[in-house]
Amino acid sequence: MTQPSSPPPAICDYEGSTYRTDFWEGKGREYEDAVERLVLRRFLPRRGKRYADFGAGFGRLIDEAAGFDEVVVVDYSRTMLQEAQARLGRAERFIYVAADLYKLPFAADAFDAALLCRVVHHLADAPAALRQIRQCMASGSIFVLEFANKLNLKAILRYALGRQAWSPYSLAPHEFVRLNFNFHPAYIRQALVAAGFTPRRRVATSWLRLGLLKRLLPLRLMVALDRILQPLGSLLPYAPQIFVESQVCGAPSALVPREQLFKCPLTGAPLRREGDLLVSAEGNPRWAIRDGIYDLKEPLA
Ligand SMILES: C[S@@+](CC[C@H](N)C(=O)[O-])C[C@H]1O[C@@H](n2cnc3c(N)ncnc32)[C@H](O)[C@@H]1O
Repeated sequence: MTQPSSPPPAICDYEGSTYRTDFWEGKGREYEDAVERLVLRRFLPRRGKRYADFGAGFGRLIDEAAGFDEVVVVDYSRTMLQEAQARLGRAERFIYVAADLYKLPFAADAFDAALLCRVVHHLADAPAALRQIRQCMASGSIFVLEFANKLNLKAILRYALGRQAWSPYSLAPHEFVRLNFNFHPAYIRQALVAAGFTPRRRVATSWLRLGLLKRLLPLRLMVALDRILQPLGSLLPYAPQIFVESQVCGAPSALVPREQLFKCPLTGAPLRREGDLLVSAEGNPRWAIRDGIYDLKEPLA
């Protein structure tokens, strides 16, 4: 007897969201943006063939992949991708893809580097998404993952003083607002290993994320101090934000050519382009390419 399949995880849908103007532009987060870029410069290869930014949003961090021949901008939200496209343009090297991290539409050996930044905290089933990402990464590839850390100094202190009910030491993700999770560093490490990644380096960031410090200290000093503190994350991961650099072990494998980049997210069959469609040998399901965005979220009726 077949078991009833469990419902797919709920998705934190950014369709129509004003994330860029609500969260970043003019919102006093220059420090957070700058320290994230520092980490990417530490962890990402300087050059490569094909890079994926999973959950790229409006493409805030895409310029950190300037040394890659092709850059695949992936997001669940079509409007986020439209914003990314308006900012970055329609150059051949950018490939915009609407897709769900739980059903990624990429062939094996699609990428030699990838990023997941400020996304995993929205995932109710982070291990499932990490498995999907691993399946399209080539041997020898580098994957950089950022997560919100439940084992941070503020949570540890509040818990010790009895001002917080949930334990920062327990491994289970803590959902502080619906579809917003903090993770324990050991949980993320286990999930990465279970997905087939080899975590190699870890840094902790945003140590100085306090309104008072932002008012008192110049941005350059805050960023310089964070840079010095980041390596502490390998032994003392107590900052609110952690980045892990992982590798897919093995000798570097050749990437699939661009014409073979996509697979059907429902059947796994290879997809080929026919005009403004992506189709498989079986014909159905078919997927649309609209205004330069590959729409692999929902098939055409
Ligand atoms: C907080 S934004 C981060 C954007 C970008 N990575 C950054 O750091 O600026 C989270 C992004 O994750 C995307 N996202 C959330 N769940 C997703 C899913 N299941 N599949 C693909 N993208 C998803 C959202 O659409 C949104 O653009």
